[in-house]
Amino acid sequence: MPGAAPAPPVDIFDRCSDPRMADYKAADELGLNPFYREMGSEIGPTITYDGREAVMLGSNNYLGLTTDPRVKKAAVEAVERYGTGVTGSRLLNGTLPLHSELEEFLADWVGLPSALVFTTGYTANLGLISTLVQAGDAVFCDSAAHASLVDGARLAEGDLRAFRHNRPNSLNRGLRTWRANPANGGVLVAVDGIYSMEGDWAPLAEIRALCDQYEARLLVDEAHALGVVGPEGAGTAAATGVRPDLVMGTFSKSLASCGGFIAGPPEVITYLRLFCRPILFTASNVPASLGAALAAAKIARAEDWRREAVVSLAARLRKGLTELGYDAGGDSHSSIVPVHGTDVLSTGLLWRALLDRGVYTNCSLPPAVPKPMLRTSVMATHSDAQIDRALGAFAEIAEQGVVDAARERFVGSLELELDTSPG
Ligand SMILES: Cc1ncc(COP(=O)(O)O)c(C=O)c1O
Repeated sequence: MPGAAPAPPVDIFDRCSDPRMADYKAADELGLNPFYREMGSEIGPTITYDGREAVMLGSNNYLGLTTDPRVKKAAVEAVERYGTGVTGSRLLNGTLPLHSELEEFLADWVGLPSALVFTTGYTANLGLISTLVQAGDAVFCDSAAHASLVDGARLAEGDLRAFRHNRPNSLNRGLRTWRANPANGGVLVAVDGIYSMEGDWAPLAEIRALCDQYEARLLVDEAHALGVVGPEGAGTAAATGVRPDLVMGTFSKSLASCGGFIAGPPEVITYLRLFCRPILFTASNVPASLGAALAAAKIARAEDWRREAVVSLAARLRKGLTELGYDAGGDSHSSIVPVHGTDVLSTGLLWRALLDRGVYTNCSLPPAVPKPMLRTSVMATHSDAQIDRALGAFAEIAEQGVVDAARERFVGSLELELDTSPG
């Protein structure tokens, strides 16, 4: 008897017929796709979106420096002096005097001896963790830590252990268990200084104390804190008087550019320079990004009014949203103001209703966040009037029940489709 025909071999492209792709397509067709939207202008306090002006509450340009003439001039001068690209890695032909100047400036700013500039913040975290945490070691990440910290830990040969978000007790339990086995290796604890979605701070003093108790090294990702909090904008560690072993920072937020860095002891930085694959095997920063980042870092460190403005504008936005009945979290003393949604559809509808009223926000959905939310953030260069204009849109949506009405229409039309579908 002939055997059953062999199953056809799996086509790797079949992996792309994920059911989430259908959701994405449906959202697109309903005009509810918040992703890959094209900006029609530079990212300032307002942007041009779809030919219309919108208040920009969906960026990481916290100090408003992407449009600063001094930062732009520095970028142009870097291009004129060094060209548009370096066409090679840091190791071979991609290191410029701008790298050295930036590394010295950044190390001094965050109060650590040395620094190393990477092409992005993502590769800085990926490179640091995957190079440092070797077989037998472990990295303990806060469960809300940025994807670049988690991905670095996944790439590392050592273990990835998560502890509950901002729960030192959970970290304590993990570290105690790890150290109970004397055969276990070294430990890195990795946290965000300010968490990117909620804007909440890590309890750094308690985490530092646990690192000391269990002889673990502490990495603080200051991506959302640098320039925004602490003396001279040096970040959450400086603000709380905690000394981390390693600091990560990015140029892609307050520093108005693209790139990232790790600061730490010279022996770690030298080791990374020689053995970190995400620095050895990728092209170095384009000169314009370095020129802009250096100029922005100098301005960010010197101009206190920017961090004062950003925190006070965020407080104004949060207070206004709370008064309107939105769940905007507690005061976090950061530039980030979350607007928690009830479910994915309502959150998408709120995002769309705001956009229709000239307010651009970021829609964040699971699995990127535990629950759907709009992530809003302010810039030092927003005016009170612009924040109030955004609040006016939130008010109109709440008062007119725009989201609930749209929700009913959508659910109704989906039911209609179900009712008329062939049985
Ligand atoms: C907390 C945190 N760390 C690291 C990164 C990565 O930085 P970059 O955008 O420079 O790659 C980000 C950016 O989204 C971030 O939010």
